[in-house]
Amino acid sequence: MSATNLWLRCETKEFEHRSALTPTTAKKLMDAGFKITVERDPQRIFKDEEFEQVGATLAPHNSWPTAPLDQVIIGLKELPENDTSPLPHTHIMFAHCYKQQGGWKEVLQRWQDGQPTSMLYDLEFLQDDKGRRVAAFGYHAGFAGAAVGALALGEQVGSEGEKGRLGEIKPYENEGKLVSYVKGELTKVEAKLGRKPRALVIGALGRCGRGAVDFFKAAGLNDEDIVKWDMAETAKGGPFNEILEVDIFVNCIYLTSKIPSFVSPESIAAAGEKRSLRVVVDVSCDTTNPNNPIPIYSVNTTFDKPTVDVPGTTAGPPLTVVSIDHLPTLLPREASEAFSTDLLPSLLTLPQAIADRNPRQGKPIAASEAGTGPERVWREAEALFWQKLGESQA
Ligand SMILES: NC(=O)c1ccc[n+]([C@@H]2O[C@H](COP(=O)([O-])OP(=O)(O)OC[C@H]3O[C@@H](n4cnc5c(N)ncnc54)[C@H](O)[C@@H]3O)[C@@H](O)[C@H]2O)c1
Repeated sequence: MSATNLWLRCETKEFEHRSALTPTTAKKLMDAGFKITVERDPQRIFKDEEFEQVGATLAPHNSWPTAPLDQVIIGLKELPENDTSPLPHTHIMFAHCYKQQGGWKEVLQRWQDGQPTSMLYDLEFLQDDKGRRVAAFGYHAGFAGAAVGALALGEQVGSEGEKGRLGEIKPYENEGKLVSYVKGELTKVEAKLGRKPRALVIGALGRCGRGAVDFFKAAGLNDEDIVKWDMAETAKGGPFNEILEVDIFVNCIYLTSKIPSFVSPESIAAAGEKRSLRVVVDVSCDTTNPNNPIPIYSVNTTFDKPTVDVPGTTAGPPLTVVSIDHLPTLLPREASEAFSTDLLPSLLTLPQAIADRNPRQGKPIAASEAGTGPERVWREAEALFWQKLGESQA
């Protein structure tokens, strides 16, 4: 089997500093016989030189379209819009075109036009043999979401008449800096409230939920002040008064069906002046989903304006919602490292999957043909690609 060539492309989406490969994982892949090329990328959290130092070859920024076709192009986010050129390479990325998102057919058409050599292995759908995603950014989404919630609480509680709102936040160089900054802000909250802040996390057993709980612990909340709920605790059906009794509520559930609201305009109004809740962080961000169990806001917020006020709250303190849908961007280094490390075992099986695929280039396979063996993850992703390509062409 000849060496597998992996080409880390630049990210072109604004504010995206994360990376699918890191110097650590690139080195491990090279040790396993991969050839790694890294495009220069000024917006990536890792410096180009960090990759060069571990032995990767640097290539000009955004030069992947002219790379040899045996280069497997790896990246994270969508390619720039308004480009309809064929994509004849194999791409590993989040393409966001399998759930019929806006423009999905046009996106897949680029891979159709890149046949017979093109392939998309969509990172969102790489699953282990138990159907769990092999790599996801959830943990750092929860961790960062809890941090933004704590900062929003600090800004509100610390301001005159609680009129202050959290302003623009920029990515942190590392987790330690974020935690120590937020800890300082929470000390001020404690002085104002006369007690340590309290938080409730729903979906606490999942990836995002574990991240949120870990952040609150790291930021110095008492363990008994971090209420951790998952399926068992919400089985009785909301709305839940317990949510109104904490300062920060973080929602981290994976929503699959309609469920009773966790909190509602009516439950907030009924609590009146007794409400402690000041900040809701909706990490799940099912903002426009008709089944959203937090029907108290309707927009996604952004890092330059992280909160939105809940309309119609007349009694009690102000109540704001954080609904940023790309939270891990706040901690690009650790989020990339965790994601890439989780992806590594699958990447190490890629040479076998590519060697299998080469003789049947351009010919669809079905999921039932994915077989067994560790490289099955890629064959299943290949089968899904053909299925989605077929749907887009129907
Ligand atoms: N905002 C962001 O930047 C961001 C980033 C990554 C993921 N997400 C989103 O976060 C959500 C969670 O992702 P994850 O990877 O942590 O999922 P996960 O599957 O690892 O965890 C979800 C948890 O929610 C629990 N849960 C589901 N329904 C529940 C209910 N009704 N009551 C209580 N608990 C319930 C599950 O038991 C599980 O423990 C997803 O919607 C995902 O798209 C958001």
